[in-house]
Amino acid sequence: MAKILKSSKKINIRETQEKDLEFVIKLEGDVENKDNVFQYTKDQHKDIIEGNDTLHLIITNENNKKIGYAITAGLNSKNKSIELKRIVISDKNNGYGSEFLRLFKEYVFEELHFHKLWLDFFLSNKKVEAFYTRNGFIKEGVIRDRYFYKDKYITIVVMSILEEDYYNTDYNRKGN
Ligand SMILES: CC(C)(COP(=O)(O)OP(=O)(O)OC[C@H]1O[C@@H](n2cnc3c(N)ncnc32)[C@H](O)[C@@H]1OP(=O)(O)O)[C@@H](O)C(=O)NCCC(=O)NCCS
Repeated sequence: MAKILKSSKKINIRETQEKDLEFVIKLEGDVENKDNVFQYTKDQHKDIIEGNDTLHLIITNENNKKIGYAITAGLNSKNKSIELKRIVISDKNNGYGSEFLRLFKEYVFEELHFHKLWLDFFLSNKKVEAFYTRNGFIKEGVIRDRYFYKDKYITIVVMSILEEDYYNTDYNRKGN
């Protein structure tokens, strides 16, 4: 049985198993997602599943249907800084992505006691900044031509949440 990381009425977040990788690779290559995330090989995904600094996660909905996946890195960070490397949701605009972020922030700050949660996304990914802002992330800046991928340079935007941001907002909202 795959370990469940967090769950709510709306979603479950559990560790990815090798047999989930067909779903993961198909989703990240889907026309709706492929320009916004890197495409990894099966071996790259397996390394993330097996890595001791990384988590590879499957998100399922209330009917136990797989509706997305996420990757995080930096579990062993001495700086107490964890990276949400990727989140992809298949059934978009149903609040699943926001629910994932709500539970993931709870996990990172209240259970792992990290100081910082950060992420980056492609500048060309126009809609996603508003999504992260609405979910509490603060823009740090832009890193120009950070990656060379599929014959072009990719500029990225970095956003983050510090533990004080989290405890001043989400945590208070829960009535703590
Ligand atoms: C970004 C993403 C994870 C959001 O998941 P979701 O379940 O649709 O999110 P929610 O339903 O909680 O929120 C929807 C919001 O996301 C925004 N959004 C961001 N990217 C989007 C996309 N590619 N397609 C549709 N909506 C997107 C919508 O505009 C909407 O914002 P609004 O409410 O202001 O209109 C999802 O759209 C996705 O998988 N995108 C492609 C992969 C990606 O860009 N991942 C992030 C970089 S790693």
